[in-house]
Amino acid sequence: MNKVHNFSAGPAILPEATIASSVKALQNFSGTGLSILEVSHRSPQFVEVMDRAVHATKEIFSLPEQYEVLFLQGGASTQFLMVAYNLLNKKASYLDTGSWSTKAIKEAKLFGDVQTVASSKSKNFNFIPKDFDVAEDADYFHCTSNNTIFGTQIHHFPSSTVPMVCDMSSDILSREIRADDFGLIYAGAQKNMGPAGVTMVIVDKSLLGRVNRTIPTMMDYNTHISKGSMFNTPPVFSVFATLQTLEWVLQNGGLKEMEKKNFQKADCLYKEIDNNDLFEGTAKKQDRSNMNATFVLKDESLNDKFLKACKEAKISGIKGHRSVGGFRASMYNAMEINSVHALINVMQTFN
Ligand SMILES: Cc1ncc(COP(=O)(O)O)c(C=O)c1O
Repeated sequence: MNKVHNFSAGPAILPEATIASSVKALQNFSGTGLSILEVSHRSPQFVEVMDRAVHATKEIFSLPEQYEVLFLQGGASTQFLMVAYNLLNKKASYLDTGSWSTKAIKEAKLFGDVQTVASSKSKNFNFIPKDFDVAEDADYFHCTSNNTIFGTQIHHFPSSTVPMVCDMSSDILSREIRADDFGLIYAGAQKNMGPAGVTMVIVDKSLLGRVNRTIPTMMDYNTHISKGSMFNTPPVFSVFATLQTLEWVLQNGGLKEMEKKNFQKADCLYKEIDNNDLFEGTAKKQDRSNMNATFVLKDESLNDKFLKACKEAKISGIKGHRSVGGFRASMYNAMEINSVHALINVMQTFN
């Protein structure tokens, strides 16, 4: 493998095991003599892949009986509307913590009364609002667990009397959660799970079938539940690669171990950001993300020089998103701590 330290926000670093078995499956999938790109999704070999992906997800999250696991297309962006289509009867509450939440709110407004319970927009989303009330008659409360662009993360989910729906696109599989705190979780695969093209949805099926509208077939979670995510042709390669990552998580200590390693990586990078006079973090300390660390050089005129130093040290994907500027170090599960040390080394020797 080439030893580039990949800090990209997404599509992002994946475990070497995921890449290696995906390469193999591209050439000869499960002993069929055919590429995974060439076999029917109805073949027993692919049906087994889908079944294993569902089971691995159930095991990782210790999902109670009433939860279904789906692998859908259209990205997390399609979930912004699918959630509302299926769950929003009259009113929903949303927490606005960044561009992705804002987009989810925009879509939900097409389906009913949407109350934004709190927003950190006025501070360029550099913190997670804490004191807010969710309407008790809301159909659900929606939040984004990790704000990929702004480098903030919800560390303590609010207790909600209504079902909680969460966009976990950029921190799924990164830490322990209590699945039954959530009515629905969705996550695009392309940060911590697999290639773009597949979106994981975990849904408490008792929440479905309650809205007074006709839902188009493809937008209806019940369609995909009844067909085991095979109502139409699934993105077979993306599901296969995602399965490899799910099994890698299980073989490497599950969410508990992922959380431990992710905390260690983030902790040493944030210590450097705080102790190095040249840099400063952009997110409020208590809300900093363990996945995406956002920081700037106090003297912006040095930005290009720092990027060049990173490139020379084989550090890639470090340029910040345009709405924050500076730099963003994304440290998903597959990143080893030595990559974080490589970045810290550049920060320490930079002048
Ligand atoms: C938190 C979050 N939600 C949603 C999205 C949008 O995902 P997709 O491109 O799969 O629609 C992203 C993409 O970066 C994201 O980080």
